[in-house]
Amino acid sequence: MFGGPFDSSIIKRAIDKKLVEINFVNLRDFGLGAHKTVDDTPYGGGKGMILKVDVLQKAIEAVKDKKLNKKAQKVILLSAHGKQFAQKKAQSFSKLKNLILVCGHYEGFDERVKKFIDEEVSVGDFILTGGEIPAILITDAVLRLVGGVIKEDSAAFESFSPYLEYPQYTKPQVFNHLKVPEVLLSGNHAKVSEWRKKESLRVTAKLRPDLIKKH
Ligand SMILES: C[S@@+](CC[C@H](N)C(=O)[O-])C[C@H]1O[C@@H](n2cnc3c(N)ncnc32)[C@H](O)[C@@H]1O
Repeated sequence: MFGGPFDSSIIKRAIDKKLVEINFVNLRDFGLGAHKTVDDTPYGGGKGMILKVDVLQKAIEAVKDKKLNKKAQKVILLSAHGKQFAQKKAQSFSKLKNLILVCGHYEGFDERVKKFIDEEVSVGDFILTGGEIPAILITDAVLRLVGGVIKEDSAAFESFSPYLEYPQYTKPQVFNHLKVPEVLLSGNHAKVSEWRKKESLRVTAKLRPDLIKKH
């Protein structure tokens, strides 16, 4: 599941340049008994399988970097119960030295795993089949903010820092009678910058008034 997204474009280049390292950990390697069991049926009955707390705790401890202080690494449980992931969280994760993303599957985790993690994070109010897609999404959003992965100023003026981005255009100047705003063709950098600031606020007020209120 992880092969495609991490094997192309910006993320691949960041890995090749050794700006970041991504390691995959198979819970099965920490499974119990001859069958390397990682999950079991829920107490109290019900459908589905629950990932075992003893297996999860062993796996989490194994991938923690013991040399790092507490502030430099975080263990994140991907769960629909968590606080919703957003750009601010991506920025704070990008400053860590080690980010451990724990993916659930089937019915999820034994509740007691929450004693061995730092935060629960959700990617939205919907249920996915597993934590792999949230892990890919979070990794992508975080890695592009790591120093050197993309140009610093590309990230500085993007949407959610803190408003939505201003409208962007490229050639042709006119398409089906739709024109590029004159100011962008003027070559006047101060005017372009002023227009972009105003447009960023206008678009945000129209589409995401909650962001204006918040900031
Ligand atoms: C089918 S879900 C389990 C859903 C769980 N039984 C519930 O009702 O909250 C399997 C796994 O996918 C991941 N997952 C599903 N939806 C998610 C979301 N919105 N955000 C983050 N992870 C999610 C979690 O790791 C979860 O343990």
